[in-house]
Amino acid sequence: MQKITIAVDGYSSCGKSTTAKKVAARLGYSYIDTGAMYRAVTLYFYQHLVTITNEKDVAKALDNIQIEFRRNPNDGRNETYLNGLNVEDEIRKLYIANQVSEVSAIAEVRHAMVAQQRKMGKKKGVVMDGRDIGTVVFPDAELKIFMTADPIIRANRRQIELNERGDLVDIEEIIDNIKKRDLLDTTRKESPLRKAEDAIDVDTSYMTLDEQVEMVCILADEAL
Ligand code: C5P
Repeated sequence: MQKITIAVDGYSSCGKSTTAKKVAARLGYSYIDTGAMYRAVTLYFYQHLVTITNEKDVAKALDNIQIEFRRNPNDGRNETYLNGLNVEDEIRKLYIANQVSEVSAIAEVRHAMVAQQRKMGKKKGVVMDGRDIGTVVFPDAELKIFMTADPIIRANRRQIELNERGDLVDIEEIIDNIKKRDLLDTTRKESPLRKAEDAIDVDTSYMTLDEQVEMVCILADEAL
C-alpha cells in the first residue's frame, strides 16, 4: 500500500500531538513527536547545568544525548526516553515548557535534532508534528498541515492536560508560557515557526478531536 509523509506544524497547544497520534494509529503510520525531543534536550541541559550560550558545552552535551521513543506495552503509548530513562512525564512539566524555546532556538541543537528526525522518518508512512517539519525537516512531505487555535482555548486545553498529569498550574501562568513560546518560536533566527507555502490551515478552536482526526485522514487520503 502506498504511504506518505504527513507534517503537522503549528503553535503550542493547538492539538497537534493528540491529533497526529490518532491519525497515525488510524492509518497504521508511525508517529514522531519532535517537541518531545526538544523537551528531552532541555531536561538534559537543566540536569547537567549546561550553559546555553557556551557553544562547547552545548556541543559536548549533544554528543551525550540519546533520545528514542518506546511503546509502553500496557497502554500502547509512545514514550520518550533520554539516555535509556523514561522521561515522558518529566518533559511535560511547566518548568521544561518555560525553557524549551530558548534551547530549541540554538542552531546546533536544531541541526542535531533535524538529522535524527530525518532518519526516524526516512521511510514513508509517518506523521511528524512540530514547528519546522513542513518547512525544514520534510519540505517534500506530501501533506502539510498548519494548525492554529484561539490562544485562550489553547491555554484551557493545556491546563486540562497538565491537571490530568497532576501538575496544577494557574491559567495565567499557562497563557504567559504559550505567548512566550509563540514569540520565541516565530522570531528565532534558525528555522522559525512559519506556515509552509503549500500547507493547509486547520483552525482547531471549535473542532472536536474526532473532527480534527477525520479531517487530516481525509486530506491524507486525497494526498495519496
Ligand atoms: O510541541 P511541543 O509544545 O511539545 O514543543 C515544545 C517546544 O519545542 C516548542 O515550543 C518549540 O520551542 C520547540 N520545537 C521546535 N521545533 C519542533 C518541535 C518543537 O522548535 N519541530
